Amino acid sequence: MNTLKIAFIGAGNMAEAIFSGLIKAGHPASHICIVDPVEARCQALQEKYQLQVSTLAEACLSDLVVFAVKPQQMAVVLQQVIGLISADSTLISVAAGIQTVSFCDVLGDAINIVRVMPNTPCLLGEGMSALFSNAGQVHHDRAQYLMVSSGEVVWVDTERQLHAVTAVSGSGPAYFFLLAEIIQASAQQMGLSEELAQQLVNQTALGASRMLKESGCSAIELRQRVTSPGGTTQAAIDIMYEEGLPAAVRKGVLAANQRSKELG
Ligand SMILES: NC(=O)c1ccc[n+]([C@@H]2O[C@H](COP(=O)([O-])OP(=O)(O)OC[C@H]3O[C@@H](n4cnc5c(N)ncnc54)[C@H](OP(=O)(O)O)[C@@H]3O)[C@@H](O)[C@H]2O)c1
Repeated sequence: MNTLKIAFIGAGNMAEAIFSGLIKAGHPASHICIVDPVEARCQALQEKYQLQVSTLAEACLSDLVVFAVKPQQMAVVLQQVIGLISADSTLISVAAGIQTVSFCDVLGDAINIVRVMPNTPCLLGEGMSALFSNAGQVHHDRAQYLMVSSGEVVWVDTERQLHAVTAVSGSGPAYFFLLAEIIQASAQQMGLSEELAQQLVNQTALGASRMLKESGCSAIELRQRVTSPGGTTQAAIDIMYEEGLPAAVRKGVLAANQRSKELG
């Protein structure tokens, strides 16, 4: 796989998260190229990673062509690549909401397209990416190779499931950031300095997420274990329930799911 030529159309945050993981995992930077209208960014990325800056026509001849522009920029990009894509290429879209059929409508039914829903922890190699494709095994294997260096990879059986994935792991980091933000503000309200509050919250978040992943216990079990009857945690959780936190979070996640459908 490390001889594959990989092109990124759009060299923003998500593209960098993916190609930096690939390079760290040993994929030669000389086999990676980027296309982006922001010249200064291309130059900076070329210097940082020793990759290639390419034209759209050259990029489209790559084994993997990763579309990593904003969803609202995709229609323009697809028009620009009409007639340039090689029949053997694996096309990867990381854009939220844009359906496989939208790519086929513009580029034809013969394209090999894989949709990927990644998330920002890909930047640290701790991403969660869900993939969907109707293309053949070779394209599945290439897409798996592309994403596995930036975190965990799962495949979903239907494209529809990507809406739920978007609502859970795509948008999910922001939900945890919001919770961290609120706990930190409460810590400061109780008189702790910003620096101390942040340290307490960040390390607690890291410890809690490692326990979720590594203890083999469910979230409910872990929560119950640290919630002694009549204790401090119980006092907090009772209020959080009374104030409607579970319903608010559930409604929020469902709203993200709905929004993903609307964007599609
Ligand atoms: N960031 C996330 O957490 C996340 C999570 C899941 C999925 N995604 C998906 O990842 C995609 C990229 O997101 P991002 O956060 O990386 O966005 P971003 O940082 O804005 O990167 C997109 C890049 O594409 C460039 N671009 C625009 N039009 C182009 C064109 N015609 N040809 C080539 N490049 C072009 C943009 O340039 P300009 O700045 O000049 O427009 C920008 O540098 C989105 O579709 C998003 O849905 C992101």
